[in-house]
Amino acid sequence: MYRILEKKTLAPSVIEMQIDAPLVARSAQAGQFIILRVDADGERIPLTVAGQDRARGSVKIIFGAVGATTMRLARKEAGDHIEDFVGPLGRPTVTENIRRALVVGGGVGTAIALPVAEKLHGEGKFVHSIVGFRNKDLVILKEDFAACSDLFDLVTDDGSAGRKALVTLPLKEALEKGGYDCMIAIGPLPMMKYAVETCRPYGIRTVVSMNPIMIDGTGMCGCCRLTVGGKMRFACVDGPDFDGYEVDFDEAIARSGQYREEEARRREEACRLFEGVK
Ligand SMILES: Cc1cc2nc3c(=O)[nH]c(=O)nc-3n(C[C@H](O)[C@H](O)[C@H](O)COP(=O)(O)OP(=O)(O)OC[C@H]3O[C@@H](n4cnc5c(N)ncnc54)[C@H](O)[C@@H]3O)c2cc1C
Ligand code: FES
Repeated sequence: MYRILEKKTLAPSVIEMQIDAPLVARSAQAGQFIILRVDADGERIPLTVAGQDRARGSVKIIFGAVGATTMRLARKEAGDHIEDFVGPLGRPTVTENIRRALVVGGGVGTAIALPVAEKLHGEGKFVHSIVGFRNKDLVILKEDFAACSDLFDLVTDDGSAGRKALVTLPLKEALEKGGYDCMIAIGPLPMMKYAVETCRPYGIRTVVSMNPIMIDGTGMCGCCRLTVGGKMRFACVDGPDFDGYEVDFDEAIARSGQYREEEARRREEACRLFEGVK
């Protein structure tokens, strides 16, 4: 069992937790993830390591309460326990040979982009962060990004915070100015797809963090398969980071919707069970 040390609400339905998990904290690196089970009868879900305190032995996770399991987790409080917390899994984000990076985050994906931006900043690289949300109520981690970025752009779909734009607009402007050698995008699949397409004419290296359905997280079940460069890859062991130009996003988007009906049904059940956490 793993104890929840702290819990914070960052935005409606976006929760940050610090979990007491010294072994994970000791070895986790930016870009890696854990797989947890809330209860003994719960399903396994992957969440990215959003930060760790090695001295304290704690691991930070940030998640959107979007469905049955994340809503169940959001009901837990500091002092409560969760059943399993396995990791770190996946390969860390590679930051070698980057001098000036564009780090693009969308929605809850910005929580995953933050440790990458912090790592690059800590290595003395120039970091231009571009983060986008649907509206001002969903904005998270603004100060954290500003602290580790040489340039910072905040955009919202409706203009209620920052500029009214999609992330691809400041991304294109930055690419036009030039001088960047890598773009790292983390967020919804369509956002990553269009961020990559925005970069394609400029030819800079692109990295995307893929988030397909995962079950075992060890390369055994085949659930997280993607087509990358015409070959089958497993996001849990070969990724989650991949060269954005090589990912078949259309296939990934189609596969991500395959359990929509079942997920919607289970979400409805969870909403009824947990009135108030929506
Ligand atoms: C490597 C990786 C890292 C991730 N990191 C984060 C993170 O840091 N914060 C965060 O909020 N979300 C993250 N996700 C997504 C997160 O795992 C899903 O939001 C979560 O599993 C939803 O489960 P649910 O039962 O609450 O919702 P459901 O209603 O079951 O699903 C809601 C959405 O989550 C997706 N999903 C459901 N189960 C899984 C699963 N086992 N694996 C992957 N996706 C699933 C569904 O396709 C759907 O799009 C990550 C996913 C991956 C693969
Ligand atoms: S999650 Fe099973 S192979 Fe990747």
